[in-house]
Amino acid sequence: MAILEILEYPDPRLRTKAQEIQPEDFTEALQQQIDDMFETMYAAPGIGLAATQVNYHKRLFVIDISEDKSEPLVFINPEILEKRDLETNEEGCLSFPGVYAKVERAKGIKVKALDRHGEPFEIDTDEFLAIVIQHENDHINGKVFVDYLSPLKQRRIRSMLEKQQKKRQKAG
Ligand code: NI
Repeated sequence: MAILEILEYPDPRLRTKAQEIQPEDFTEALQQQIDDMFETMYAAPGIGLAATQVNYHKRLFVIDISEDKSEPLVFINPEILEKRDLETNEEGCLSFPGVYAKVERAKGIKVKALDRHGEPFEIDTDEFLAIVIQHENDHINGKVFVDYLSPLKQRRIRSMLEKQQKKRQKAG
């Protein structure tokens, strides 16, 4: 397994709309990609990681919101079928180190997707998982959580992250 590089905002590659995974794409290489994404997410540490964030532009994301890494979930070609009620939650993102912001999303969703072996499944949840799925699903559409914030807040976050990145480049 390998730790993958996570793209950081405002990297334009985060705006890529990912492609559907085709039946013939369920190869060893895809399994490796999924394993690497879990390893990268757990190491970060994070609770969700979309393929877009590691510069792999296929409709795929991984989530594990358990405390002991015991509930890995893989979503391939996800489709949100239903959204219910609204709720505001503070969100963070591995592509935005140190940034947290309140975002309003559906409280409950019904989603269908394929698992890592191409088997279809559905999840219907009003739990925190619903928020994480919506956040990750945005990533594969080239959308990020700060898109929901005011232009002023977005500018502040962008300049803060650009400063961080410059500092790191100088140091490294
Ligand atoms: Ni994210």
